[in-house]
Amino acid sequence: MVVGAKKLDTRAVRERFPALRRKQDGRQVVYLDGPGGSQVEIGALESVSRYMREGGANLHGAFVTSRETEEILHQARHSMAAFLGAETDEVAFGANMTTLTLAISRALGRTWDSEDEIVVTEMDHRANVDPWLLAARDAGVKVRWLPVDADTLTLDLHDLDNIINERTKLVAVNLASNAVGTVTDVARISARAREVGALVAVDAVHAAPHISVDRDAIGADIISCSAYKFFGPHVGITAIRREVFEALDVYSLEPAPKHIPDKLETGTQNHEALAGVAEAVEFVASLGNGETLRERVVSGMDAIEAHEAGLAERVRDQLVSMPEVTLHAAPEGVRKTPTIAFRVAGRTPLAVCEHMAERGIFMAGGDFYASTLSEKLGIRESGGWVRAGLAPYTTEEETEAFLEALRGFIA
Ligand SMILES: Cc1ncc(COP(=O)(O)O)c(C=O)c1O
Repeated sequence: MVVGAKKLDTRAVRERFPALRRKQDGRQVVYLDGPGGSQVEIGALESVSRYMREGGANLHGAFVTSRETEEILHQARHSMAAFLGAETDEVAFGANMTTLTLAISRALGRTWDSEDEIVVTEMDHRANVDPWLLAARDAGVKVRWLPVDADTLTLDLHDLDNIINERTKLVAVNLASNAVGTVTDVARISARAREVGALVAVDAVHAAPHISVDRDAIGADIISCSAYKFFGPHVGITAIRREVFEALDVYSLEPAPKHIPDKLETGTQNHEALAGVAEAVEFVASLGNGETLRERVVSGMDAIEAHEAGLAERVRDQLVSMPEVTLHAAPEGVRKTPTIAFRVAGRTPLAVCEHMAERGIFMAGGDFYASTLSEKLGIRESGGWVRAGLAPYTTEEETEAFLEALRGFIA
C-alpha cells in the first residue's frame, strides 16, 4: 500500500471512461480484463479523433497540419519521458512492445559472440523472452534462465551472482508479472548486472498502469511499455539510456534518420495513436499533485496503486476463503499489482470466464503468454489461470459482483 497517496475519486475517474457506460442485458458491464488492455480515457480518445478529424499530415511539411503533427510527436515523447523517468530524446515509438523489443534485440544481438551469455526469466511474458532467444540463437550465445520460486511466485535470486556473471551481456526481466501480479525486485537484479557490465531490458508493460515507474531507480537501460494498457491507444513505447541508444546499431533503412530516437522508428509513425499518448499520461497526472509533470505522474500513480491495492487485498482474501478456489499470488509483504490469478477445482478457466461473460463480467483465462510460468506450475495443459484485473475505474460493487458470480458458479 502506498503511504500518503492521494485518495482516488473513483466516481470522477469513471466519468472519464465512456466505455464504462456499456450495458449488457440492461446491466452495466464490468471490465476485469485490464491486463489485456485497459479502457481508454476520454482525453486520449478525443485527441486521437481530433487529430484525424481536423487534418493530419506527414512530418517536415511547411504547412500547419505538418507542424502540428511534429508537435504531437514531441509532446508524446515528452510525456512518456516524464512517465518513465527518462529524457525526451531517449523515447521511441513503435507498433507495440513486442515489435520494439524484436528490433532492439536484433540490433544488440549483432554485438554478441559465442563466448557471451544472456539472461531471461521464467516469470516473463514471452514478448520479453523470445526476441532475446532468437537473437541469442543467431549469435550462438548461451541463454540462462532466472528461475521462479513456485511457492512464492517470485523470482528466485539465490543464484543471481552465478546466473548473471562476467559473460552476461543482457538481462531481460519484467517489472511486474502480467499473470500473477508479482512486482519484481529489478533494482537488485540490475545492481548485479551493472557489476558485470550487462545491459538490463525491463518489460514494464504490465507494471505501467499500476505502479509508478522510475527508470533510473530500477537501473533499466531499456524500458518498454504499451499505451493501450494505461488508458491510451495501441502504440508501443521504449526508453533507451542515451549512451546505449547512441551506440545501438539498429537495422536502419535508407530514409530513416541516423540519430536517436528516430533511428529506431521505421517508416511513418501512428500519428493518431501518438496524439492520444500525452493525454493518457495527463490523465494519470490529473490524479496526483506536484509542480512538474513527473511529480504529478508519480503522485497520480501512487493514488492508483493505493486504490487498487485496497480492492485487490479484499478480493484475494475472499478467494482464499473459498475452498474450491486456488489463488496464485505471492505472499503478503510482496508488492503486487491488482492482477489476481486463480483456478477453480475441477473447472477450466474458460468455463469460469464464460459464466462471467454471460453476466457482463469480462475477464480472461489462459496463460497470457507467461507460458514458462504456467508450464512450471503444471497448469498450462489445463487452461492456465482465470485472471481478474483491477483498474483505477474498478469499484467495490464491481468486485463484489464478480465474487458473487463466482460463488454462484461454484455452488
Ligand atoms: C507483461 C507484458 N509484456 C509484454 C506484452 C506485449 O505487449 P504488446 O502487446 O505491446 O506487444 C504484454 C501484453 O499483454 C504484457 O502483458
